Amino acid sequence: MTTKQPVLQISSLTKHYGGVKALTDAGFSLMPGEHAAIVGDNGAGKSTFVRLVTGVEQPNTGDIRLDGEKVSFASPLDAREQGIETVYQTLALAEDLDVPANIFLGRELTHINLGPLSILNHKAMREKSTAMLATTGVKIQDMSESLRGMSGGQRQCVAIARAAGFAKKLIILDEPTAALGVAETARVEQIIKGLKEKGIPLIIISHNLRQVFDLVDRIWVFRQGRIICSRLTSQTSPEEIVGLITGAIDPANLPAEEALTC
Ligand SMILES: Nc1ncnc2c1ncn2[C@@H]1O[C@H](COP(=O)(O)OP(=O)(O)O)[C@@H](O)[C@H]1O
Ligand SMILES: [Mg+2]
Repeated sequence: MTTKQPVLQISSLTKHYGGVKALTDAGFSLMPGEHAAIVGDNGAGKSTFVRLVTGVEQPNTGDIRLDGEKVSFASPLDAREQGIETVYQTLALAEDLDVPANIFLGRELTHINLGPLSILNHKAMREKSTAMLATTGVKIQDMSESLRGMSGGQRQCVAIARAAGFAKKLIILDEPTAALGVAETARVEQIIKGLKEKGIPLIIISHNLRQVFDLVDRIWVFRQGRIICSRLTSQTSPEEIVGLITGAIDPANLPAEEALTC
């Protein structure tokens, strides 16, 4: 039997802000090609977890491993360089720039790289952007238009295509459809399903249980600053997940074989 190594493995991750225990002793893992969801009530520690895993903040204690190697992230850029791409709900793109400029923001391709005197390779960036969008199935009519004229859904598709194009290890989506309408949400969900087919590991934070059950293999439940358990989507139900989120169900009382992962 071959034992697969997790792409991401986290143990004993803790972040306290003074007396506030935002996250305590959290354990988490993501297998190659796996899509996982993070769910939990407001204040459960989801955003804190994401900040620690994406280098926005550093943990008090705990281990983060990528492909078995212990890592630490000094900054979000550091986390990106080590292979973790993040898409935020706030549609963090530059409105006045076109699609290729947004995709290559901070990692521009150059003919000659002399810092401020660099000569940008616009043609290469345009071609690579077109390829990145094509692999995720995102359609943009005019690549040279600024993002200002685009809908929230189109922008989020560009952000996800960018993340998918650069992610060496995994993608984290923090409430990617929170600001979108129904049709745009469906479009983003299609792209996420495409990433699943391509085997790109992904973590999605979502309040939308319909979406979670539609998209992921495994659901991780956060409650009051702890990760209380994970459930295979195929072995649980929305009712059970709601019970775990609210505390109505104690993970210790779940059926024995299903409690193995808790
Ligand atoms: N920078 C901070 N300073 C103090 N307390 C914080 C900070 N960030 C988060 N918290 C607290 O940590 C807890 C977890 O918050 P958060 O991770 O944002 O939860 P979630 O994203 O699940 O809603 C909450 O009680 C929140 O008020
Ligand atoms: Mg949050």
